[in-house]
Amino acid sequence: MPDPDILDLNFPSSFFWGASTSAHQVEGDNQNDWSEWEQSNAKRLARESVDRYGNRLASWEKIAAQAQNPQNYISGKAADHYHLYAQDFDLLKSLGLNSYRFSIEWSRVEPEFGKFNDQEIDHYRRVIGALRERDIEPFVTLWHWTIPTWFRDRGGWANKDAARYFADFVSRIVGCCIDADYWITLNEPEIYVNQSYLAGEWPPQRKSYLEYFNLLNALIHAHNYVTDAVRQLRPGAKLGVAHNITRIEATPDNFLNRLGVKVVNWWTNRYLLDRVIESSDFVGLNYYFRRYLNITPFAKKAEPTGPLSDMGWELYPEGIYHVLKGLQKYKKPVFITEHGLADADDKLREWYIVESLRNVQKAMQENVDVRGYFHWSLLDNFEWDKGFWPRFGLVEVDFETQERKVRESAKRLGEIIQRS
Ligand code: BGC
Repeated sequence: MPDPDILDLNFPSSFFWGASTSAHQVEGDNQNDWSEWEQSNAKRLARESVDRYGNRLASWEKIAAQAQNPQNYISGKAADHYHLYAQDFDLLKSLGLNSYRFSIEWSRVEPEFGKFNDQEIDHYRRVIGALRERDIEPFVTLWHWTIPTWFRDRGGWANKDAARYFADFVSRIVGCCIDADYWITLNEPEIYVNQSYLAGEWPPQRKSYLEYFNLLNALIHAHNYVTDAVRQLRPGAKLGVAHNITRIEATPDNFLNRLGVKVVNWWTNRYLLDRVIESSDFVGLNYYFRRYLNITPFAKKAEPTGPLSDMGWELYPEGIYHVLKGLQKYKKPVFITEHGLADADDKLREWYIVESLRNVQKAMQENVDVRGYFHWSLLDNFEWDKGFWPRFGLVEVDFETQERKVRESAKRLGEIIQRS
């Protein structure tokens, strides 16, 4: 492992240091399209887990019992952040973080079409208040993959009025009382459409190129539409999309593979960004791993060379430097809205954070305008169709007792922040 010395890491004092979560993954007791889907798919996911991960993950033995238990796939109480948020913000603060990215759950605020729940709006107002009291800057995500069941029943994002429905919800919360300056309209639209409309893995489990393409464009439209609504209600609000960008490398490095990388990069990493950038104030970057592309006939498939997370993702800290450099052409500030790894034993997290920040710093020294770093995640949480075994938290959560324990790697992040 490279030397995790942190003395060379120096970030501007105005830097936003944060951690991210999303409502469905931490709040508990959400009633939305996902919670219903969990109920009808938990047994299948438990059954399929051996085939999906058994031969692939080094962590399999450790996770096998949990992954084969249907209960693992039910979000249930999750990390009970809905009730424990104040305590969680104390932990966040104790680490020296000054910002928090979280999402407002649409299905709580508008459980029935056109009927808004003022108590839930009040809840989020209290959440923001608790952050402000602690001098923590809120970054509010307006949609992080889950949708109200009434919206799903109307076709979800495929409905021709989807952007208007979304804007009604957003206007309600921006207009009344949610006091935030930074807004992330959508989280990773391209991952959502891929998993939900092409791969057929997430609700509503469709497998259609046409729907996939249409939905991606519907989400692009929704972003552009809703940014106008927010700006009218809150002049000066700063808006952007949290976009997942993977480092893709041609391996072996030859003409055909390089061409392949160009096409895949354009489609997965640029298509959406090119269409939302004009109405955005910043780029939100979610960076996780590297992928190899090889379309050369008969060439051997490349194997990862770096360490792997518990989910088998190759941890490649240099990737974030390359991705950041690629964002320079947009001439907008960048917030790293997610970056992290599943690492239950906390063996690689410190190294990954330190090395990645070194690469972020390098990009900044080369004039990439990075304004903040948000680790995914503040808490161990419900990792969608994988359930609870992937442990992403700076803070470990015992899901039985809801006890929290700050991981050692998080303390190291705190030291870096303190030095800056
Ligand atoms: C998503 C999170 C997820 C994380 C780890 C991101 O793509 O925004 O919701 O938990 O990746 O898989």
